[in-house]
This record gives sequence, structure tokens and C-alpha cells, in this order.
Amino acid sequence: MKRFPPGFLWGAATSSFQIEGSLDADGRGPSIWDSFAGESGDTGESACDHYRRWRDDVDLLAEIGVNAYRFSIAWPRLFPSGVGELERRGLDHYDRLIDALLERGIEPVVTLFHWDLPQALQDGGGWRSRETVERFAEYARTCFDAYGDRVRRWITQNEPWVHGILGHYVGMHAPGEKDFRGAIAAIHHILLSHGRAVQELRNGGRDGEIGIAFSLFPTYPASDDDADREAALICDGYHNRWFLDAVLRRSYPVDMERLFEERIGALDFVRDGDFDTISAGSDFVGVNYYSRGVVRASPGHEPLPYEVVSARDLDVPLTDGGYEIAPFGLTDLLVRLRADYGDVPILITENGAIYDGAPHDAGRVRFLHDHLAAVHEAIEQGVPVRGYFAWSLMDNFEWALGYKPRFGLVHVDYATQQRTIKDSGRYYREIARANALVEAEGARS
Ligand code: FCB
Repeated sequence: MKRFPPGFLWGAATSSFQIEGSLDADGRGPSIWDSFAGESGDTGESACDHYRRWRDDVDLLAEIGVNAYRFSIAWPRLFPSGVGELERRGLDHYDRLIDALLERGIEPVVTLFHWDLPQALQDGGGWRSRETVERFAEYARTCFDAYGDRVRRWITQNEPWVHGILGHYVGMHAPGEKDFRGAIAAIHHILLSHGRAVQELRNGGRDGEIGIAFSLFPTYPASDDDADREAALICDGYHNRWFLDAVLRRSYPVDMERLFEERIGALDFVRDGDFDTISAGSDFVGVNYYSRGVVRASPGHEPLPYEVVSARDLDVPLTDGGYEIAPFGLTDLLVRLRADYGDVPILITENGAIYDGAPHDAGRVRFLHDHLAAVHEAIEQGVPVRGYFAWSLMDNFEWALGYKPRFGLVHVDYATQQRTIKDSGRYYREIARANALVEAEGARS
């Protein structure tokens, strides 16, 4: 049997805006997602009603048997207008949640920013503005002061590529902007804010570990042609190296800097000393992995001269969401992280897939099995992976796509808010209990 290292974290993940609802409760201020209508037309107004049902959801976590839970704090619940007075009721909510988790032996792994920026900060320029970095540092310090006696692992930022690019260049996510230069500046400030939070944790003399979660996307050239190889390298630079190099190597990759400068002019939002802050001693890197990319050259393509081939045009297995099921990509990615960036500890902070069936979700059971086998393989090869968080604990508000895509180990009936553990949730329980990859058939018994 494939065993995992002692103390391995078996977790499930969520984020505040995707599950909480109760957007006006307890003095919460508006966030950029409240007013953002994605292509689905759905909103986060009700979501999973978790803000009110959180006790039941802690029971659910205990029933699934995870030993860790990754959730995010809604910044606008603590600072309704982004700055100024702290809203105690919001602070107390997460205080109770953390205690309830600990009572069940579940480690809280807290994300500070999972995209629900206070609207008031957006009105002042949001992440395009360097000011927001300091607001984030204050907010982070508040969280460390309030919860740092119990929270041992912090994640500063979730997926700067997705929030930066989909939110500020593609316009598909809030705040819905379409400005490439603004997006690259926003990403820089998000990375800087990560470093500032690391400094705040350390300056406060606290222990506890802190890291950042990246959406990593291993790239493979569509052919052996030099042009396709070059395209895969650019795509890798855009999605992966830009972030990893900044945090772990103290600089942006030079090839990408050159490409961005050709496109948007001098990167003058980068100031002296920024990389000392950005690379200020993260304890781990969080890896969010969903699929890989097959990449071909595409001269003139915006914003960079490559295209990712649609998985539907490849002869590959697909999830119900149409993404390629590519567990080998996760092993390749993890092994590569160690080869290129050294022995930095890794948490798989998200991995999961869209499958429609419930409660019988054989596809997700298989997906889980195959991706955990891929993680195990990387561990065998010496990669220091410390834990795995399934995305997601339960079906939830999938941003621009709304409620249709279902990622949960637990089914949510949005009309009644009833939760039902899917086969994948039962299977995950067996794995967590055994600290080993039990075979998938066990999920049925
Ligand atoms: C990631 C996000 C997470 C969720 C999953 C499916 O990009 O971090 O909130 O939407 O994708």
C-alpha cells in the first residue's frame, strides 16, 4: 500500500466568498465580488449559507475525517471599508470557527486573501495601487494578533495569476478590468503584499508557518518544433516562473521581463528592495493543481505569442468540466519544483475536478485516487510534500461560472442547503484514516 509520511495533512479547502453568503451580516462591507456579475449571472448572496451553518460544516469535516481545513477569512468582514475600524463581530466569527475546528482535532489553515477585496479599496485602485499592500499588511497583522495563538499555518494570497489576469486583464473575474499593464502591476503588488505579511508575522516574533498558494500549470510543447518548445517556455514563464522566481529566487525571470516590457513598457511599479520583501522567507509553497497545458506557438496572439490547445481537441480523458485529467502533470510539476527551486516544503493547497454525479461520483473517486498516486510518486522521488487539500469540501459558488460546476466532496442542494457526502467524500475518509492510498473500490462499501 502507498503510505504517506507521518503527520501528513489530509485537508479539504474552501474560500469565504464561495461558501458564506450572508453578505450583509454582522457589519460586513461590500467586496468586489458582491456586485460583479459573471457570465453565469449567479451571485454569492446565498452560496452555501455557511456563515450561518458553519457549525454543521465543522461536523461535516469531522465526519469526513480530515485533519486540516483550509478556509479564507473575508477581509470585508474584519474591515468593512478596507481601512479604519475593526468589525469585532466579523473577527469573532472566525475566532469561533477556529476553536470549533481545534476541538475536533482539525488544524485550521487560513488563507488571508481569496479574492474578496473590500470594495472601498478597489475604489482606491485595488491591487493596481501600492497602497493596498499596506492595507493588506495591517489586515494580516490583525489576523495574526487575533488568531496567531491557535493558527499554525497561514496562506497569504491565493492564485495571484488568476486574480491578477482574469480579474484585471481578461475581465472575467472581479474587478472586471481589461488592462494588461494594470494586471501585471496588480500581480506585483499582490506578491509584495505576501512578503509584507511574512514580515509582519516574523516581526511580531510569532512562530507559525506562512506561505502563498499559486495556480501552477505545467506546460508541454504541442510538438518537437522549436517554436512550440519556445511557446511552452513562455507559457511556463507567464503562469509559473514569474511567481516562483519572485518568491524563491528574488527576481522576475529575465525572458519574461523582456516580453512584458515589449508589451506594456517599463515595469516601473517594481521598486528597489521589492524582491527582498517578496522573498522574505516563505515556509512553504502552496500548489493549486487542476490540469496541464499543451502549448503551441501562435505569433501575434495576445497577450503573448502562444496558445494552449483545448483539451477537447486532444485525444485525452476529460473531467465533466472539459479539462484534461492529467495526474502525471502533478508529479512532473512537483519533481520540477524541487529540481529548480530546491527543497522548499510543499502543500497541495487545491486539487479537484468538476463531476456532475451525486452522491455517486465515480469520476471524482478515480480522479482523487490517481492524483494522490501522483503525489505519492513525487514524495517517493524526494519532494517534500507535507499535505493535500481537496478542492472542495462542498459544491459552491464557482466564481464567473456560478453554481453549475460541482467540485465538492459533499453535494449541496442549493434549494434546501442540504449537504450529502458523496462517494468521493467517503473514499477520502478512508484515505485520511489510513494515511495511505487505499484502493478506490473501498469507496463503495
Ligand atoms: C481555483 C480557485 C478556487 C476554485 C477552484 C476551482 O482557481 O482558487 O477558488 O475556484 O479554482
